[in-house]
Amino acid sequence: MSFPSVNPTTTAAWKALEAHALEAKNWHLRDLLASEADRFERMHVRVDDLLLFDYAKHRVSETTLSLLEQLFAECGAPEALQAQLSGEAINQTENRAVLHSALRDPRTEALLVNGEDARALAKGERDRMFAFAEAIRDGRKKSFTGKKFTHVVNIGIGGSDLGPRMAVEALKPFSDRGIQMHFVANVDGSDLHECLLQVDPERTLFIVASKTFTTQETMANAEAARTWLIQQLGDPACTQKQFVALSTNLEKVKAFGISEKNTFGFWDWVGGRYSVWSAIGMPLCIAIGADGFQQFLDGAHAIDQHAAQTPFRQNIPMLMAALGIWYRNFMDAASHAVLPYDQYLHRFAAYLQQADMESNGKYVDRNGERVTYATGPVVWGEPGTNGQHAFYQLIHQGTELIPADFIASVQPQHPLHAHHAKLLSNFLAQTEALAIGRPQAATVYKVFEGNRPTSTLLFDALTPYALGSLIALYEHKIFFQGVIWNVYSYDQWGVELGKEMANAILPELEGDGALGAHDPSTTALLKHVRSFS
Ligand code: F6P
Repeated sequence: MSFPSVNPTTTAAWKALEAHALEAKNWHLRDLLASEADRFERMHVRVDDLLLFDYAKHRVSETTLSLLEQLFAECGAPEALQAQLSGEAINQTENRAVLHSALRDPRTEALLVNGEDARALAKGERDRMFAFAEAIRDGRKKSFTGKKFTHVVNIGIGGSDLGPRMAVEALKPFSDRGIQMHFVANVDGSDLHECLLQVDPERTLFIVASKTFTTQETMANAEAARTWLIQQLGDPACTQKQFVALSTNLEKVKAFGISEKNTFGFWDWVGGRYSVWSAIGMPLCIAIGADGFQQFLDGAHAIDQHAAQTPFRQNIPMLMAALGIWYRNFMDAASHAVLPYDQYLHRFAAYLQQADMESNGKYVDRNGERVTYATGPVVWGEPGTNGQHAFYQLIHQGTELIPADFIASVQPQHPLHAHHAKLLSNFLAQTEALAIGRPQAATVYKVFEGNRPTSTLLFDALTPYALGSLIALYEHKIFFQGVIWNVYSYDQWGVELGKEMANAILPELEGDGALGAHDPSTTALLKHVRSFS
């Protein structure tokens, strides 16, 4: 075990936090904010030219924060991050290092993993990706019939879809509008079908993105897309020009028939949900170009340095993680909302659901024992202001405590500035309303208790650099929480069982032989489906 496995409930800080929480449950944010004139001054972090992180609207005191800091120290969180960044095999259940940070690290000193220099490997593949993306953008790389590409279809799922899809949407203002990006993930055929109705076969580049190159959904979609393209263009050789692979499994890519020069690799030390920085970022790189992608990496690297070097009270991902622990473990919050007031970030919560819930949704600790405390919360959200007209009722007046992150940028990426003032007025009003509430009203139905905690992440502008920083902030938050909860954040065994059972059911659905052993409900459902054939 490369850093100590600590049951957090055995620490002095945890016990003190339990006692402290009994007192804190009586506090109201209205009082905290009214009585502490310097609260914002003490409880914000400004990273120049990038963002302002405000955590003054949390149900915490200086004592709470000191105890949380002590918890981080007792659980060895700073040391754990050093172990990760230095390439130790901290993903022990898969015996792998976790080095997505190396993908965005400009330093040239060797960082050895399994005898190879991770930074040099990353740079080599990155340079190839940059050259390829630029050649697609400027039309030097042409389709089978000699045309410039105007459509790119990324076929992938989970980490091979959510990151690039979210980032391409987020950075649309920086993208080449002459190339339309499409993403196909679902094994539901309607996903690919609807996509193929929109693209021109003579101008479409297909990217097959899969770390393992064995994922059922992705392989089914890739094979169907290949068949379609060959039918449309009338020559199997077209796939050599119009198919690209992003994978760690070069053997499988070769067997599929994608040429070596169109194959971009990465390594087992890049987790799927942390892979947008690798070749999996190809769609983003084509969209915003090599310079834009480099800025995206630089923004994330700056946060790697920030997370590793900044003391607790100025360390944004540590604070985000600590506040999450406070509500999850000491205030019984079961979910966490992520609310970007930015339509360009409309896929951010979906992306974060995988990053967070696949990492920390675990009930077995690093000793192989069942935990006795809550781990990862349900993460969810939608952009503001849309969410205000949907689920905010429950956040304001429901019976659940739902801590929320409010994310926005001061400067918009569109020319409709009057809209932006309206957007930001809602953004600011909501966190104030949630904290302060409205204690007096004509009827009890119009009373707002308030005391709903929020963090504000206010970026100067949503640039490629800022987006890289934003994602990296959450990556480190997730890691720190995993350390405190003492779970293996980088494996995902919980996705396996359903996949195995689907593989067993598929031939039963397609055939008419005897059914295997299933529970009575599943047997009846299977029979019902088969009765249609
Ligand atoms: O099913 C979960 C998962 O393994 C994710 O962790 C991963 O991001 C996704 O499937 C896709 O995997 P691949 O990139 O190997 O196709």
